[in-house]
Amino acid sequence: MDSFLIKGGVPLHGEVEISGAKNAVLPIMAATLLTPEPCVIHRVPQLSDVRFMTQILEWLGAKARLDGGALRIEARRIKGHADYDLVRKMRGSICIMGPLLGRLRKAVVSLPGGCVIGARPINLHLKAFAALGAKIRIESGYVEASAKKLVGGPMFLGGRAGSTVLGTANAMMAAVLAEGVTFIESAACEPEVVDLANFLIAMGAKIQGAGSPTITITGVSQLHGAEHEVIPDRIEAATFAIAAGATNGEIVLKGARADHLRAVIDKLNEAGVVVERRGADLVARRNGRLQAVDVTTLPYAGFPTDVQAQMMALMALTPGISIITERIFESRFMHVSELARLGAEIEIEGPSAIVKGGKPLSGAPVMASDLRASAALVVAGLAARGTTQVNRVYHLDRGYEQMDVKLRRLGARIQRIEES
Ligand code: EPU
Repeated sequence: MDSFLIKGGVPLHGEVEISGAKNAVLPIMAATLLTPEPCVIHRVPQLSDVRFMTQILEWLGAKARLDGGALRIEARRIKGHADYDLVRKMRGSICIMGPLLGRLRKAVVSLPGGCVIGARPINLHLKAFAALGAKIRIESGYVEASAKKLVGGPMFLGGRAGSTVLGTANAMMAAVLAEGVTFIESAACEPEVVDLANFLIAMGAKIQGAGSPTITITGVSQLHGAEHEVIPDRIEAATFAIAAGATNGEIVLKGARADHLRAVIDKLNEAGVVVERRGADLVARRNGRLQAVDVTTLPYAGFPTDVQAQMMALMALTPGISIITERIFESRFMHVSELARLGAEIEIEGPSAIVKGGKPLSGAPVMASDLRASAALVVAGLAARGTTQVNRVYHLDRGYEQMDVKLRRLGARIQRIEES
């Protein structure tokens, strides 16, 4: 397993190209299953999660070809059954279920199970399919949704932590080929949901209201091929902005969209990291001393759970006390004990982490537990004195395109140690 060796203490300067959004491209790739015609997706990030999703689509019968940054997928004939071995690698693969149900009227997918950040149930996904008239059966570790015909209707997708991003994606992808009109109430409002809706609309779907809590879908009998460019990754942009603040540098986030990052920009400004527009890009830099801020993660447009760990790394470097509350995933604090290895003082109290920041961090070997936890350890390592070895960076490779290469271009002393 590869690791990163980081010699910290270098302020990062320069430009970084923000890649296409992982959490937008995965459901968009799944949506290509809705038509037998070819689709072309632009600005596809080279990530292991994208490779997993490509394998799943190929296993289902689709043909996929990568041409530069464009991915061409043609799902002329497909089957509706996905095995445990395929699905277990990536929880996001659950979003093949909606399009399979929409197109074939039947989907059998291995239950994805939980992961280190929390239980990750799929009850709301199944509620959406049932609201469209599908019968749901769970047997031998597989979930089956099937229907003679899908009929649109009202559905409510609010859960205990707000809506569900992939659940909303699944509901939309099943409903576009249902008869009649579907109303999704308490829909997720994330930009990735809007990007998927835009792709589906380009395929001929009739969708209104994506980006708001009420989405209206008027079913059509078939969809056609389409071409689409994926939105820039707001979480990657936020991570580099935080790295600029943590190292007292200045980074131009090329192509990042301020309108997708309002809560992050607001919080970073409060913390003494300015993120402002420069032409078509954003630029992040420190504005004097860092200030301790409290952060609570919330569904969009609130502060994203996917930036919580990186923000905690920044707060560990900031003099004062910061309370970081996680409202989306109950166990998303795996980075706390690893940040402590670098010298951070953090206590967990229920859903909150209390960070007593400002003590200088010093490099140490640390273990990445999940994608965003890994990013937090890299940010901390970049600011720490001495050398930090971040082990198991395959987690990072799932969701950050060439992070080591991009950081090196910004001046970081970071090296990938490849292990066969
Ligand atoms: N939930 C339910 N029932 C469901 C589905 C979700 O109770 O049927 C709960 C979850 O347990 C959680 C909350 O609802 O408490 C939100 O989960 P959501 O379904 O929105 O998460 P997801 O769609 O599975 C996506 C991203 C995650 C990101 C979350 C929240 C993808 C592939 N994944 O997951 O991204 O954290 O939305 O924004 O889009 C990451 O990139 O590191 C990552 C984990």
